Amino acid sequence: MALPPHFLDELRARTPLAPLIGRATRLEKAGRQWKACCPFHGEKSPSFYIYDDHFHCFGCGAHGDAITFVMRQSGATFMEAIERLSAEAGLEVPKPTPEAAARDRRAKDIHGVLAAAEAAFTRRLHLPEGRAALEYLRRRRLTDETIARFGLGWSGEGRGALAADLRDQGVETAQLIEAGLMQERDRGPVDLFFNRVMFPIRDKRGRTISFGGRILGDGQPKYVNGPETPVFSKRRNLYGLDLAREAVFRGARLVAVEGYMDVISLHQNGFGGAVAPLGTALTPEQLEAMWAIGPEPVLCLDGDSAGLRAMARAAEVALPLLSPARTLRFAILPAGEDPDTLVANKGPEAFNAVLDAARPMDEALFDLLRPQGKMDRPEQRAAFRNKLMEAVGQIPDKALAGEYRRALLDRLFASNKRGGKPAPVTIQRPVPGGGVRLAQARALMACLVNHPWLLPEVEEPLMLLDLPEGEATQLRAALLKLFSEGAPLDPEAVADHLRSSGAGDALVWARRTPALPLGARAEAQQSETLECFWHFFARLRGNGPLKEDLEAAIHAAERNPSTETQRRVTLLKEALDAFGRGETGSEGPEG
Ligand code: UTP
Ligand code: MN
Repeated sequence: MALPPHFLDELRARTPLAPLIGRATRLEKAGRQWKACCPFHGEKSPSFYIYDDHFHCFGCGAHGDAITFVMRQSGATFMEAIERLSAEAGLEVPKPTPEAAARDRRAKDIHGVLAAAEAAFTRRLHLPEGRAALEYLRRRRLTDETIARFGLGWSGEGRGALAADLRDQGVETAQLIEAGLMQERDRGPVDLFFNRVMFPIRDKRGRTISFGGRILGDGQPKYVNGPETPVFSKRRNLYGLDLAREAVFRGARLVAVEGYMDVISLHQNGFGGAVAPLGTALTPEQLEAMWAIGPEPVLCLDGDSAGLRAMARAAEVALPLLSPARTLRFAILPAGEDPDTLVANKGPEAFNAVLDAARPMDEALFDLLRPQGKMDRPEQRAAFRNKLMEAVGQIPDKALAGEYRRALLDRLFASNKRGGKPAPVTIQRPVPGGGVRLAQARALMACLVNHPWLLPEVEEPLMLLDLPEGEATQLRAALLKLFSEGAPLDPEAVADHLRSSGAGDALVWARRTPALPLGARAEAQQSETLECFWHFFARLRGNGPLKEDLEAAIHAAERNPSTETQRRVTLLKEALDAFGRGETGSEGPEG
């Protein structure tokens, strides 16, 4: 409550209980105290006792002080009861100050405690005591912008630092324990985090729900993570999910990596779709959380034996959850690198290449289940086949299971010719980074080839758009031509037409699924596609020209009011809106 504690003490002291309760029920003397028939439950003989500072009913258990009594007896709220009793006692209720009100809210809200802790940690990072931590983060190539974006902080050097920081804000030790920031020990409550760089862990809406704390330099344990609390579950959350959600919507690839530092440095290097589990293997809940964002997240793993085990485990967890719209890919890192060191040593293109080489679920499954060594005896092959079919049996979707069965058996039969060596895990050569504009153009073209019904809606703006020379312009020319010829606008017919007119490679380029935003994919809903098209159109067109387009469209609609001209105005307005939304972040889609 937002009242100073001394005020309530004073109010209670000035409100003797017996006269107050005596107005509601007839009192009888009982030694030094009073007793009465309980006003809260019907009774014939008194079991309701009134003491100096509280009442208690031995019949129904009612218990409390003067304030509680008024609340229960008249149905008043806490503040109404205070108001009424204060008037009677001749006291003025102090006005709650903004600070007191803020303190009050925080007292109830574990999220508020965590937010206050995050602010305290980030403040300390920029004090002289946080100097070493800040330098450490900078040495690890994080920019100040990244440090701020991820809310990184410094825990403080000694125990009790956080409690001291938050005491003025009315946060008590019990709340720090509840929020997972302190722990009860024999010698009393102690800080969970000290001498650590603090990494806020956020939920998908961006609220801080816990922290990871990294030791400076070497030492064990390297990371300490907050415990499970009412707001934090390790199984259900992913580091970076709040930011990835945004980025994936704008076309970034959804990638699960292993560590906090990997997520952060990937984001800094343009891979806004990176997330990480919270120090454990991926759980079904985390897979679900990723599928809520994108249909084909890439799991990025080490190439060593631990990485292979993690891959086997993830495949096992994923199989019973697969559907035609939910699958995984597996990307393998070069030996000795994690994503953080890879982008630092070899540049973002190297990580892009790792993602491009990611293997689809069925291929990965085949290699994971394949026995070590030779497999040329019928018995060995049959045993392997049984394992494959057992895995397929885990897939609940009938059609998908059928496709997997066929794909895996095809591979098994094909493996006759190849002898017994497991297929090597290869990393493809880096593809030259195409740049953000090219990726935007690809998304735009994917919208069109996968959803050709767009063409009549967007023909004119599309014609005028400045596109990177190459596949995009080739596709545009072919699409506009076939539209003007009145060809049927279903995806298959359009694809055939493109292939036969020599734009087959460009079609493959546009449809290559990795890194395509959801709205550009074949399975997208009409409204998703429209939004996606205008989003990327706006990015490619630029803000200024777009405003001119809108002005021109408004004029046209005034001169010639029709559903078509009106619609153009609406769509361009939406595009401008999409452009505005897109401007809050910096990542473009990677391709
Ligand atoms: P890594 O050791 O790969 O961490 O552990 P990292 O993020 O790359 O950190 P740097 O680059 O060494 O600073 C991967 C993840 O495993 C969890 C953390 O979530 C970490 O990000 N982990 C690791 C722990 O929870 N505790 C540990 O002691 C170590
Ligand atoms: Mn690392």
